[in-house]
Amino acid sequence: MLSYRHSYHAGNYADVLKHTVLIHILEHLKKKDKPFCYIDTHAGAGAYSLQSEQAEKTQEYTQGIARLWQRADLPECIQTYVDQIKQANLSDELTHYLGSPMIAQQRLRRQDQLKLYELHNTEVEILNDSMQRDRRVQIFHEDGFKHGVGLMPPQQRRGLVLIDPSYEIKTEYQQVVVTLEQMYKRFATGTYVLWYPVVDRERINLLERQLKATAIKNIQLFELAQSADSNEHGMMASGLIVINPPWTLKAQMQEALPYLAKHLGLNKAGDFRIEQLKEE
Ligand SMILES: C[S@@+](CC[C@H](N)C(=O)[O-])C[C@H]1O[C@@H](n2cnc3c(N)ncnc32)[C@H](O)[C@@H]1O
Repeated sequence: MLSYRHSYHAGNYADVLKHTVLIHILEHLKKKDKPFCYIDTHAGAGAYSLQSEQAEKTQEYTQGIARLWQRADLPECIQTYVDQIKQANLSDELTHYLGSPMIAQQRLRRQDQLKLYELHNTEVEILNDSMQRDRRVQIFHEDGFKHGVGLMPPQQRRGLVLIDPSYEIKTEYQQVVVTLEQMYKRFATGTYVLWYPVVDRERINLLERQLKATAIKNIQLFELAQSADSNEHGMMASGLIVINPPWTLKAQMQEALPYLAKHLGLNKAGDFRIEQLKEE
């Protein structure tokens, strides 16, 4: 039984980094006319009200997107992201947030496709409503880990896979490595983005070591910390592991991550990491 609902976390500092990177990669793929496929193995609901009971309860977005909302000095890639969320809001007030499927749906072209996986009964219903019978979109009420591998390579032979689990089940730290290895074996030229939370640093150290030990090449890591590592409960940082990133991504992150660490860090303890885990 899945209990995770992304509505508690929509628009938090982890979403800011994840969705900024997602947009940058989608825009890069769009530079060529050739169609591509966007695959979201853990899609969530697609769109979120920040006035919902869940969002009101945690207020996580107040330490994420809300801190950037009125700023006039945003780095380019963060500005592009904030602009898209602004378009989803009817007024200057921040009341709505977009999930990864809707961010992608709004950016993809007629020739592109979206394949979205969501296991949670309620979330998949909301996702179906959010996507509004778009012919480019296929929604599967299935396990994105298992079925996502079967999709590789996409028929377009160009694509981006976002793997964004909640890590509710601790075996998911291992499952993401196995899934990436299997996907990469079938589709080595695809771009992959894996999200991870830093709740226990040792788990992430192990994840990095395991990924480095695979045959996967060209791996970059981008991490944003809200506070320093500690043994207390909760997520202190979160990051993205990107396989076959666009060549432009690192430079954008070199500008964006110090900015985000400064403005989204708590008690001046914000920090970031940019690393090349494996060479091309
Ligand atoms: C972190 S949320 C996704 C957020 C979304 N990617 C975004 O950025 O807006 C993770 C979602 O994955 C779903 N989920 C969990 N295990 C899954 C699985 N094996 N296959 C597909 N969806 C799964 C959960 O129900 C939850 O809605």
